Amino acid sequence: MNRSSTNRNLGDQRDHSLVVWLTGLPACGKTTLASLLQAELKKRRFPCFLLDGDRLRSGLCSDLRFTARDRAENIRRAGEVARLLVDAGLIVIAAFISPYFADRAKVRSLFRKDQFYEVYLECPLDICEQRDPKGLYRKAREGLIPAFTGITDPYEPPPAPDLTIRTADLSIDESLNVLLKFTLERCAFRPET
Ligand code: ADX
Repeated sequence: MNRSSTNRNLGDQRDHSLVVWLTGLPACGKTTLASLLQAELKKRRFPCFLLDGDRLRSGLCSDLRFTARDRAENIRRAGEVARLLVDAGLIVIAAFISPYFADRAKVRSLFRKDQFYEVYLECPLDICEQRDPKGLYRKAREGLIPAFTGITDPYEPPPAPDLTIRTADLSIDESLNVLLKFTLERCAFRPET
């Protein structure tokens, strides 16, 4: 491949890279679906990157807690990182509780309309609480975690998400298929094979 066709291809990718932003209660399935989606996209040779709340909070955002102000800053940083990665031509899969409408709206405003897709993983609180993979709901009920989303801190459901997946009603495979189809339909470019 010569230099000009390389540049053209990179340009195409930048034009069509996007963010799939997963939001929902703790234990609604964000990290599970995000990593499965990443694996499916990688299989198809799409350049992609998984930005996950737990991972960011262990590094870039390790100075932040769970006050409304810190959550806003956490989501602001996540949005700015997503923007850099989109500019670099990647498909970004972001998995953050991102509980507040205003913080999500600010992230959306960083992107073109066809570059940012909000996916709401809708799951009733009692089911998330039963799943409780990290035991955090139990701790929150015992009063050991202040401002825990869904228990002592609000989750504001998106009023107009680009996609809603009801993870309590679907199997993981079914949820993944919906998410993968949605994403592939919006990735206008095809990677070279
Ligand atoms: S967000 O609210 O700022 O979007 P984020 O997605 O980065 O949250 O991080 C959520 C993760 O932090 C959860 O998966 C959970 O493991 C952990 N966590 C610890 N304390 C809390 C809390 N008070 N509320 C919600 N999640 C918490």
